[in-house]
Amino acid sequence: MVKIAPSILSADFCRLGEDIEKVSSADWLHVDVMDGMFVPNISIGVPVVKSIRARTDMFLDTHLMVEKPGRYVKAFAQAGADLLSIHLEADMPPALHAALDEMEALGVKRGIVLRPITAAEAVLPYLEKGLDLILVMTVEPGFGGQAFMADQLPKIAAIRSYIEKYCPSCHLEVDGGINAQTARQCVAAGADVLVAGSAVYGAEDIPAAIAALRGA
Ligand code: DX5
Ligand code: ZN
Repeated sequence: MVKIAPSILSADFCRLGEDIEKVSSADWLHVDVMDGMFVPNISIGVPVVKSIRARTDMFLDTHLMVEKPGRYVKAFAQAGADLLSIHLEADMPPALHAALDEMEALGVKRGIVLRPITAAEAVLPYLEKGLDLILVMTVEPGFGGQAFMADQLPKIAAIRSYIEKYCPSCHLEVDGGINAQTARQCVAAGADVLVAGSAVYGAEDIPAAIAALRGA
């Protein structure tokens, strides 16, 4: 069964608690953390994750678009994130492995993320050690509301085949430009978690939008 993870990047941050309640029929809550260095934008930080944790029991799927993300693993884990995903482009491999090991020690689920430019094979050294999630970006990270990059579909399919071979329990998530149509393409290619910001928060009927994504 496909999981839906609304991105609160498209929420109204003055009404964040209410906007989180509006997506309670979804499975996970996707929290986009941006540092203004790894991506040009700045968004949510540790104190906001702590406040969200106090407000909801939803699974907090925390996407770190941050340079050298190992610096922040402990802080976000202690703030209440359930899963942290770190970009393969955000540091050197030894530091990324160390960050994943620290997540394991802290009891937080471990994810890695690929920018559109990064090849499917890049996941292999990490998948072999066991992961909870691989996130394939289907836009350049940094902003909501961008157009889906269909050229990422073969990469989703390739990573699905690696997951089946090396780590079948690992989720395969997609993020960027997901709507009911592109969701269907991603699920057909092997995705099982769908992030959606504007397609959820821009909808007149949010529960119906979530159901439409789920049915994709
Ligand atoms: C982009 C973020 C996404 C973003 C998706 O860098 O990682 O999670 O919120 O927004 P939509 O669904 O509008 O493309
Ligand atoms: Zn994201």
